[in-house]
Amino acid sequence: MQEIWTIQALVEWTTNRFAREGFEHPRLEAEVLLAHVLDADRVHLYVNYHQPVNQEERQRFRELVHRRLQGQPVAYLVGYREFYSLRFEVGPGVLVPRPETELLVDVVLDLAGRGEPSHCIADVGTGSGAIAVTLARHLPRSSLWAIDLSAPALDIAQRNIARHGVEERVTLLHGDLLEPLEKRGLALDMVVANLPYVPSAEASELGKGLLRYEPRVALDGGHDGLALYRRLIPQAGRMLVPGGYLVVEIDHRQGQAMLGLLQEFSEVSVLPDLTGRDRVVVARKGGAESADPLLQGRPPLP
Ligand SMILES: C[S@@+](CC[C@H](N)C(=O)[O-])C[C@H]1O[C@@H](n2cnc3c(N)ncnc32)[C@H](O)[C@@H]1O
Repeated sequence: MQEIWTIQALVEWTTNRFAREGFEHPRLEAEVLLAHVLDADRVHLYVNYHQPVNQEERQRFRELVHRRLQGQPVAYLVGYREFYSLRFEVGPGVLVPRPETELLVDVVLDLAGRGEPSHCIADVGTGSGAIAVTLARHLPRSSLWAIDLSAPALDIAQRNIARHGVEERVTLLHGDLLEPLEKRGLALDMVVANLPYVPSAEASELGKGLLRYEPRVALDGGHDGLALYRRLIPQAGRMLVPGGYLVVEIDHRQGQAMLGLLQEFSEVSVLPDLTGRDRVVVARKGGAESADPLLQGRPPLP
């Protein structure tokens, strides 16, 4: 008798296969791929759990599963990733936005909510534009400059900016760190960055293995991972208004070193992510009144 492949059977088979491969979210990934093939959302899978899947759909699903097993990120296979409950186009040439980066956005929104309602914010190394677009959507009176060195990333960011209707307030610039803005002589209220911070030796290993499909320029942060932040910090120091903030994502082992690099800033704090590991550094430029309660939430590392 011919075996009937239902949605349930396909999800369960693929979940087991992905789990054996050691994937972190085997069921979620199986569901996202199947929902994509069926041109539906994941709720559809549960509502139609016992429906058979036709041969043509199974063939397309099999191809995606095969490519996933070769290491291609699910987000590249389906062409998008959710970030801060918004959908972002992604593809080869751009880093897939990571859930931990949502903390960076939380921190910026928290800081922005306490000050002036309108801000001028730079997102350095914007990639897919996930941070800049999310901030523009949540801060409707702010204007954002989103900068990247990578032309393929800027193409995707441009489409994400249009998709979320924030073209009027997010300007894309091609260039190295804050250089394109420094030329314009702008003053910034905030500089936000999730720049590459993986030490080169690790980036090489990841580039051969787990992250082999993601662009090296989005990962490699030089010998200790801090080469780009080392250059960004003095630029930000020059371009921020007094009392302005620099907010950056780091590797959990870099908090101490970042404190050393940020001595020119008046208040500096290293904030942990949900796993309790250092993830975001907030530094405030001197010259403005009143210490910020967020920055007093946690003492600097000894
Ligand atoms: C870790 S990815 C982050 C992308 C995005 N901000 C996010 O959080 O998903 C770092 C980005 O920085 C860009 N980049 C690397 N070096 C740069 C530089 N010197 N100036 C500007 N952007 C740079 C890369 O092209 C990449 O898009």
